[in-house]
Amino acid sequence: MRSCSGWRRLLFCLPLVFLLPHLLSVMELHREPTMRDQHKKARNKFDHLVLGPAAGEGLPDRLQCQGVKALNKTHFSASSNRSYVAESIAFVTVFTVYNSSDISKTSGSSDVTTVGNSSYNKVERSIAILNVFINFIQVAMPKSNVIILTDPASDLSINRDKVSVYPIQGEYSRDKLMLQRIRSYIAFLERKLEDHSRDHMHNYIFVDSDIAVVNDLGQVFHDYPDFHLALTFRNNKQQPLNSGFIAVRGTYDGMSRAKVFLQQVLEVYISKYSGASRMLGDQLALAWVVLSDASFDAKRFAKAQPFLKDIKGASVLFLPCAMYNWTPPEGAGQFHGMPLDVKVVHFKGSRKRLMLESWNFFSSSPNIADMLCLILSSGRIKYDF
Ligand SMILES: *[C@@H]1O[C@H](CO)[C@@H](O)[C@H](O)[C@H]1NC(C)=O
Ligand SMILES: *[C@@H]1O[C@H](CO)[C@@H](O)[C@H](O)[C@H]1NC(C)=O
Ligand SMILES: *[C@@H]1O[C@H](CO)[C@@H](O)[C@H](O)[C@H]1NC(C)=O
Ligand SMILES: *[C@@H]1O[C@H](CO)[C@@H](O)[C@H](O)[C@H]1NC(C)=O
Repeated sequence: MRSCSGWRRLLFCLPLVFLLPHLLSVMELHREPTMRDQHKKARNKFDHLVLGPAAGEGLPDRLQCQGVKALNKTHFSASSNRSYVAESIAFVTVFTVYNSSDISKTSGSSDVTTVGNSSYNKVERSIAILNVFINFIQVAMPKSNVIILTDPASDLSINRDKVSVYPIQGEYSRDKLMLQRIRSYIAFLERKLEDHSRDHMHNYIFVDSDIAVVNDLGQVFHDYPDFHLALTFRNNKQQPLNSGFIAVRGTYDGMSRAKVFLQQVLEVYISKYSGASRMLGDQLALAWVVLSDASFDAKRFAKAQPFLKDIKGASVLFLPCAMYNWTPPEGAGQFHGMPLDVKVVHFKGSRKRLMLESWNFFSSSPNIADMLCLILSSGRIKYDF
């Protein structure tokens, strides 16, 4: 059996594996509570793709699939002709390298994972996810840049075109990472504001690194010229906002108001939700800042339509998760399938394998719509990491 030799190799290598620097990115910590519960309960997760029925069957505005063959064209068009000058966009994510050994405590192993022709240990698969994150951006938005915010003490090196590593001093320990992430975003905006007069202007999208960009996002800045920052929402009373996607217009106004907004989120995080800093504090704080605005009508979250609202001095664009932050578990349930114009797929929780599998599928059969069928029909399955 394949797994036997894998285990033998693992046991043999164990002392070495524990000495390796451990890598971890925000996405690994950022699980929904339900996912965490299931993570604890279910060890019956799959180490290979399992396809089921695709949600949204028969719905006219949802992707229709026959196996992993898409019956509709999605609006993907990386090379198509645009009527506007493509906006300059930089994706910003937080990713760090640890040399602590506490990863081994969380799921008990440094197991070897095989996707396609590649095998990864825990450290390597974190890097593999980061690389797939970059790959998708470079396919969907080849002109954009990727900026990786990281601990100056970590020796992360990524040698890829249009990708830069940007050290920001801070406290990147595992239990502080979500807090540090907002701090890093704020520090990054501060530095870009200082540089603003001489720097080339970029619009920024701050994202988790477990997302796949599958369609052009420059249109958001073009189609909604008045927002300073954009957030993604879903129809969920406890957690209406997801912090995995925050767009910031690269003007002085956009960046300075986004900075002030995030500083308020940070203050609320520290004063109200510091106990939740490992997981959801930032999302709870984000929701608190938005919902504490007396003129905000939370009923707007019920309808998956973009809307603009002034919140604490910033013009905030609210974008539906169904299109800008589509998540497999909710996609099958809450979103009732996958919209044809989905732009971002978020592989939250234990769906990281699906992210690697998706890229593996796409690299041998480069059709985004077919790959979305693979994600859609696989979305309710729990995978092994
Ligand atoms: C998607 O494909 C299905 C099956 O071919 C078809 O019935 C449906 O009209 C298509 N939807 C759109 C919006 O093109
Ligand atoms: C691109 O758009 C321009 C202006 O609309 C048009 O003239 C040109 O033919 C288009 N090129 C392609 C390859 O579609
Ligand atoms: C990690 O390693 C660096 C040098 O490689 C060391 O300076 C640092 O103290 C280590 N951190 C921890 C938490 O062990
Ligand atoms: C995996 O390896 C096989 C045999 O070497 C090769 O034919 C195939 O193209 C590889 N697949 C990928 C996705 O690289």
